[in-house]
Amino acid sequence: MSTPLHFVTLAAGKGTRMKSELPKVLHAVGGEPMIVRILRTASHFQPVTSTVVVGHMADKVRATLTAFPGVGTVVQEPQLGTGHALMQAQPALAGKSGTVVLLYGDVPMLSQASIANLLAHHHQTGAAATVLTAHLDDPSGLGRIVRENGRFQRIVEERDASPAEKAITEFNSGIYAFALDGLFEALNRIGTANDQGEYYLTDLLGIFLADGRRIETYTIPDADELRGVNSRAELAVMNAQVRDQRNAAVMAAGVTLIDPTSAWIGPDVHIGRDTTIHPNVYLEGRTTIGSNVEIHAGVRVINATIGDGTIVQNYCVVRDSTIDANVAMGPFSHIRPDSHVGPGAHIGNFVELKKTTLGPGAKANHLAYLGDASVGAKVNVGAGVITCNYDGVHKHRTVIGDGAFIGTDSQLVAPVTVGAEAYVAAGSTITEDVPDGALAIGRGRQENKAGWVAKRKGKTPAK
Ligand code: UD1
Ligand code: CA
Repeated sequence: MSTPLHFVTLAAGKGTRMKSELPKVLHAVGGEPMIVRILRTASHFQPVTSTVVVGHMADKVRATLTAFPGVGTVVQEPQLGTGHALMQAQPALAGKSGTVVLLYGDVPMLSQASIANLLAHHHQTGAAATVLTAHLDDPSGLGRIVRENGRFQRIVEERDASPAEKAITEFNSGIYAFALDGLFEALNRIGTANDQGEYYLTDLLGIFLADGRRIETYTIPDADELRGVNSRAELAVMNAQVRDQRNAAVMAAGVTLIDPTSAWIGPDVHIGRDTTIHPNVYLEGRTTIGSNVEIHAGVRVINATIGDGTIVQNYCVVRDSTIDANVAMGPFSHIRPDSHVGPGAHIGNFVELKKTTLGPGAKANHLAYLGDASVGAKVNVGAGVITCNYDGVHKHRTVIGDGAFIGTDSQLVAPVTVGAEAYVAAGSTITEDVPDGALAIGRGRQENKAGWVAKRKGKTPAK
């Protein structure tokens, strides 16, 4: 079908019940703002125009939309109802032809398939408007679809509905396809003669019918897709629903989730086969997990890559970094941005890396801070080693050559280089470069004073 498509997404409302300084449409569902989710769904249709109607906290919404360069905004101020909201899009659609799909920024679960089906029905029938509907046992609060002999008659809002109308289970999703031809001309005839004194978009349908134009409905089987978010409780329900869907797909692709109700896996995360994810794990952003990986409870991974066969023990945080294959990590490791852990390396408990590369087979097993460091292959970093990378003004690099051994509780004062195969004695403070294969000792020499304790006792009067 070559009809030009246009999307208008309403996102001007106050969202009062969220009780939030964040606009409702920026609250996250499945790890991303609701408005981003619905705009991504819309973008699959490659519309000629895509317009978001903003109003309440417009600047915050606009700032998020910079991720969608093709999407424009129009401002609705004040917000006088859904009909008034669509009126604001008239300048953006001036001189255009084709079909307009109206979406809501706070109805983020609508599927691409449902939009495609709505459009197919709309185009087949040549209707002026096609209303997307579904059935709910209890559609309280929603507009009901009133039919006569099966034909669409009108939409009645809950507050205006008679008891018989309230018993109707078919509701108005508020999502429509409209023929652009004559749309705004009809829209501009809507009045505000209703209980709320608002411009009801639903009145447009009555105007079309009076003009002898055709109204169609398209009913989808899954009312869950049409769920809106009005409160934090509804947000939590929706997030659980998205998580369940996502996790079902992840498991179908060959990943074991020990507890599918507590694994949070973002939309841009890829996980290989036979990987096991334990409870309370968060995998976020653009993250790739290999196959046969074991991720234990309480781990958080953000924008990172984890290679095949790696084991991440409990309570590790990994961000903007690459972990190669067969690494053993954790518990309680913290991998900060721009780090790269080579294959077979070990990162133990309370080890923090920042902008640090660890070569293949390197080990830092206990209590270390490695920042702005390049650590070679098979280096052994002892317990309590610290790179002193910051002089209070600048950051400096530490370079450790392949096969070096850094004794426990040593400080490496950067900029400094420890050569390949070199040894640093335990407890050293290293301020100068260590040549390849050398032993560096940088600590006070020990002195033993024979008989000192007995002598002291003799001098000290008894209590
Ligand atoms: C509307 C429909 C109702 C339908 C329901 C589905 C009307 C008159 N009623 O209800 O039949 O069952 O949606 O959810 O259309 N918005 C604006 N500007 C405004 C008003 C609303 O941008 O001036 C946006 C809101 O941010 C929200 C959406 O439009 O995303 C729906 O607004 P809401 O007030 O929830 O819809 P209702 O009018 O109650
Ligand atoms: Ca409402």
